[in-house]
Amino acid sequence: MGQQWDAQGYDAQFSFVTAYGDVLLGLLDAQPGERVLDIGCGTGHQAAVIAAAGAEVVGVDSDAAMLELARSEHPAVRFVHADAQDAAALHAAVGASPVDAVLSNAALHWMPEQDAVVAGIAAVLRPGGRLVVEMGGAGNVARNAEAIRAGRAAVGLDADVPLPWTFPTPGEQASRLERHGFVVRTLALIDRPTPLADGVTTSGWARMFGASLVADVPDSERDTFDAAVDAHAVQLGLDRRPDGAGGWWADYVRLRFTAALA
Ligand SMILES: C[S@@+](CC[C@H](N)C(=O)[O-])C[C@H]1O[C@@H](n2cnc3c(N)ncnc32)[C@H](O)[C@@H]1O
Repeated sequence: MGQQWDAQGYDAQFSFVTAYGDVLLGLLDAQPGERVLDIGCGTGHQAAVIAAAGAEVVGVDSDAAMLELARSEHPAVRFVHADAQDAAALHAAVGASPVDAVLSNAALHWMPEQDAVVAGIAAVLRPGGRLVVEMGGAGNVARNAEAIRAGRAAVGLDADVPLPWTFPTPGEQASRLERHGFVVRTLALIDRPTPLADGVTTSGWARMFGASLVADVPDSERDTFDAAVDAHAVQLGLDRRPDGAGGWWADYVRLRFTAALA
């Protein structure tokens, strides 16, 4: 299921993903004593901040390496290995009583069973409980994906492979939330051209976030693949940030929403 993550590399070179998610912590406004579930918690940064606010938090993730790093960095927080598409697994992770709030940053678009995820969240949240999410939205990383397809074509692989992400439109997401009993409070599709760390180009981004699209590139073709990805990215302007500051970037489009269970 899904890709295997390079947890150390994620924290070392792509911690901007986590940092951008900190805006959700303000929207969540966790109170002491509240029970909170963090879905797709990764290396556990947000879960640890929520715990530090005095809430009882459980972070769930389906990747063993992410969880191992989360546990070693934040030993006081409870992290559980679970597929968030599996309602029974979410239920087992939170225990018998429902949680007051659910948070998720940069994770839900990795889950093909979008309805199952929202149904599972609704099943573990108390009535009136809140949901605070940021995920990839419609149009997210379109240029990055196009560059990866060009790289695949350059080494003779099928360029037309399905992408491993699901990026809903605002309308799709609002309908899904309502179908599962949520009242949408806020929902926005946000263009967020995102600078990459120094020395990271589109091919490096692809290795971290598009591992399943890179896995079948033979070792002997890796350099050719990387060069073709980056050459195509340059054609698309991904080496020149749109704000004129210079440097490589990813064309992120985020879907950020808050909702309450009716
Ligand atoms: C880009 S990381 C975001 C991690 C963290 N929320 C952050 O802000 O840094 C996406 C995370 O979603 C997790 N994930 C993907 N599919 C999942 C699933 N079906 N169930 C639980 N976690 C999943 C991945 O293992 C990964 O840790």
